[in-house]
Amino acid sequence: MKEKVDLLNKDYESKTAQELLAAVLADFGKHLVVASSLGAEDQVITDMVLKLYPKARIFILDTGRLHQETYAVIDASMKKYGHNYEIYFPDTKSVQDMVSQKGMNHFYTSVDNRKECCFFRKVEPINRVLGSADAWVTGLRATQSVTRTTLQKAEWDLGHEMIKLNPLADWSDEDVWAYIHKNDVPVNALHEQGYPSIGCAPCTRAIEPGEDLRAGRWWWESADQKECGLHVVDGKLVRKSNEKKESFD
Ligand code: ADX
Ligand code: SF4
Repeated sequence: MKEKVDLLNKDYESKTAQELLAAVLADFGKHLVVASSLGAEDQVITDMVLKLYPKARIFILDTGRLHQETYAVIDASMKKYGHNYEIYFPDTKSVQDMVSQKGMNHFYTSVDNRKECCFFRKVEPINRVLGSADAWVTGLRATQSVTRTTLQKAEWDLGHEMIKLNPLADWSDEDVWAYIHKNDVPVNALHEQGYPSIGCAPCTRAIEPGEDLRAGRWWWESADQKECGLHVVDGKLVRKSNEKKESFD
């Protein structure tokens, strides 16, 4: 599989994000799924993909704990693009049992409890989605993480045993926002309020100038614990924050 991924990366090296998406849509069609958290990067990819292929499959994991502002981006995007998302919910019984036994906010009480909540609300649902796909697209970027400085446009996702594509791997924060402004892409109102990275409402806060972009995610935990389990490389969860935000201007 490494050879196949190496070949893809050689092919994608000189391709723009749009050219890469056009190529993978042609290769995988309905067996390609795009993962959207409704964050700025995912909105860029959504805009590109739907301009290339209006029937593309874009999925959202609705954990049940997203911000109202995030739900507003779903509706704004559905309206702008005339497109329906695939929206996945956690397994009802798993969440019912968890909250009945441990309460509504047990994720603050230990890393294990937080990971349990992420497992039921994100990991199990994504495993279900990816079961119907041969490849998936994410909005990950190399500068989001010290462990991702070598992030490639194509990877072998060991956990899900499929090709994972990161078309914005080599984009900067500035590239993302330039595209958004140029193409009038709908974005989450929270970005303007100091939230560069947005997950679930109880587990995301605004950051201060100078803080890591992901400092507002699971802020009560140490940096090396800040993973929800969606992204696995070589059997390990990836991502540590390193990109700093100097100001919000
Ligand atoms: S996380 O692992 O810490 O939650 P992050 O919010 O940075 O991830 O997003 C990284 C990528 O994971 C996004 O660009 C998107 O492709 C995918 N992703 C994250 N959250 C979701 C979600 N709720 N639904 C679908 N995809 C998601
Ligand atoms: Fe639960 Fe927080 Fe993980 Fe969302 S981010 S699934 S609320 S622990």
